[in-house]
Amino acid sequence: MKNNILKINNLKVYSNKNSRFKLVKNISLSLEKGKTTCIVGESGSGKSLTALSVMQLLSPQLNMSGNIVFEGINLLSLTKEEIRKKRGKDIAMIFQEPMTSLNPVLTIGYQIKEAIDVHEKLNKADLSMRVEELLNIVGIPTDRINSYPDELSGGQRQRVMIAMAISCSPKLLIADEPTTALDVTVQAQILNLLHNLKIKYKMTMLFITHDFGVVNDIADDVAVMYQGEIVEQGNVSNVLKNPKHPYTKALLDCVPDSKGKKDLKPIDYSALKRVMG
Ligand SMILES: Nc1ncnc2c1ncn2[C@@H]1O[C@H](COP(=O)(O)OP(=O)(O)OP(=O)(O)O)[C@@H](O)[C@H]1O
Ligand SMILES: [Mg+2]
Repeated sequence: MKNNILKINNLKVYSNKNSRFKLVKNISLSLEKGKTTCIVGESGSGKSLTALSVMQLLSPQLNMSGNIVFEGINLLSLTKEEIRKKRGKDIAMIFQEPMTSLNPVLTIGYQIKEAIDVHEKLNKADLSMRVEELLNIVGIPTDRINSYPDELSGGQRQRVMIAMAISCSPKLLIADEPTTALDVTVQAQILNLLHNLKIKYKMTMLFITHDFGVVNDIADDVAVMYQGEIVEQGNVSNVLKNPKHPYTKALLDCVPDSKGKKDLKPIDYSALKRVMG
């Protein structure tokens, strides 16, 4: 039997204003411990809302139902204080846009210290040592410790976010399109870094992307989202070899192969709508 660290059961997310219109429609997904699961889907399909539901960081205009079980505990039954203790410590998240998640008026060293300090009480010297260690781990020269976010490149900023996310050795790392804003070579470096850290620290990773090329590179399992639903999920090689859902097939047709031979086809939405109803 699979050892699942996280189980999302019948998750629904809807706006307070209109509870009948679901933004996330009854999805269920299990993450196997130590594995990377990718959620792939186009913009607006509900990927971030799913991740934010796990973190219990949905905006106040949104509601959710269902349950999210992490290591046997339903996160929805925890108090705010209990969930705050888990967030960052057991489950950490790297957000889509590093510049909006980092505070522009604080140095990166200070912000990494703060991330550690929420969960671990270290003395000043140990805290500084830990920050330097984290900068080394994510590949930022330690002399940048007093830099402000806008003095760093996009890739470096995302490395700072990664340092903060792994600072308390989370068991589950959620990465929400962490490479979307980066150019292709930096994107590959960040993917590599995340993959290596996941193995080194035996983390489970939930990785969100709209790019099947990325899924191919890093995922063990994949869930394909379309308009708030998971339309297909399973082991990545099975899904890639034998996609069953028309949207998965359409997404796969958009991935260039490495030799650039394949004819790329744009997604035919009217055909998809006919199939999906
Ligand atoms: N606070 C909110 N209030 C109302 N609707 C919202 C809110 N946040 C997101 N939505 C809507 O929910 C849907 C899913 O949003 P979500 O952010 O999960 O998409 P996504 O798959 O992460 O897309 P992207 O790839 O562009 O990040 C979208 O239609 C979005 O407009
Ligand atoms: Mg998103």
